[in-house]
Amino acid sequence: MASTHSTADWVTERTSMSLDSGADRHLWEGGRRYHAYREGRYSLPNDEIEQQREELMHILVMDILEHELYLAPMAEPPTKVMDIATGIGLWAIEMGDRYPEANILGVDLSPIQPTSVPPNVTFQVDDVEDTWVHENDYDFIHMREASGYMRSTPAVIESAIAHLKPGGWFELQEFHWVAEKEDGTIDHKIPVNRYMDHMMSAAASTEGRKIPIVPEIGDIMKRAGFVDIKKKTYRVPYGTWHSDPVARRRGAVLTLNAELLLPTSDKVLGYIGVTPEQAEALYAECVDMFHDSSIHCYATYYVWYGRKPEEVEDSAATSR
Ligand SMILES: C[S@@+](CC[C@H](N)C(=O)[O-])C[C@H]1O[C@@H](n2cnc3c(N)ncnc32)[C@H](O)[C@@H]1O
Repeated sequence: MASTHSTADWVTERTSMSLDSGADRHLWEGGRRYHAYREGRYSLPNDEIEQQREELMHILVMDILEHELYLAPMAEPPTKVMDIATGIGLWAIEMGDRYPEANILGVDLSPIQPTSVPPNVTFQVDDVEDTWVHENDYDFIHMREASGYMRSTPAVIESAIAHLKPGGWFELQEFHWVAEKEDGTIDHKIPVNRYMDHMMSAAASTEGRKIPIVPEIGDIMKRAGFVDIKKKTYRVPYGTWHSDPVARRRGAVLTLNAELLLPTSDKVLGYIGVTPEQAEALYAECVDMFHDSSIHCYATYYVWYGRKPEEVEDSAATSR
């Protein structure tokens, strides 16, 4: 990564830098605010509405994981932690509160993290797709809800393993938005799946990215060199049709989140010629679907984790 400023540094610099400096200012388009540092890298806004959506997502994920911040089976709590693409930094702040002995670094393109945080938590404005200038002694690197936005998720995962100490853990958590029916099959004609198919082709064809489907992350981690790779999955219903009150509560929050997320897709869908009017119509169909209690489908929350081998395991593997 090219720069290592803390949020506090950026705040200081913001008062003295010209508006052309890039990291501090924001860009506005269609009434939404976007990051300016490495302009265009990330397609979603960073404004108040998006920050509220992120907060909602954090609440949902904490509910799904029953208030665990990570699932990697570390023998001891981590001491040097990085949160890749930290967003508003809630995960990093809660890690800092829960593990006062640990140092937590959150990195993001946008300076949208609070300035009043636990003393062991630092934020940097940076692009995790650049070459990392960090040390290689992290014992835990975490990445949540960000792999779908990278140009090359495999490259970011390779940077993560290179900067973990031997025996350190990496964990990636992400929603797989493709809607599965109760029997696990996928109907590509339902609105949310048509929306997902469009988003994947738009990213691939025009932005030159191949969004890894979340179920493939384990293979990417394996190719990067991780061992002891495990996956946990959690189904969350779209809508509030479920008879179980916990599933219904999660479905309600997921639906609200999806409804806030949909209208941020105009730009990406525009890359494959979907007009704003057509996009609007597709969003409306998705919303109708979420509120149609006769349609029973689920999104899936994935937690992937894996360990960087110890050097002795490395050489044993090489000599085999
Ligand atoms: C959907 S938010 C998730 C935020 C946070 N990880 C969470 O789970 O609450 C995705 C974040 O990824 C950040 N991001 C995307 N590409 C990035 C990059 N190349 N370098 C750093 N941050 C990036 C965005 O700025 C955004 O804050």
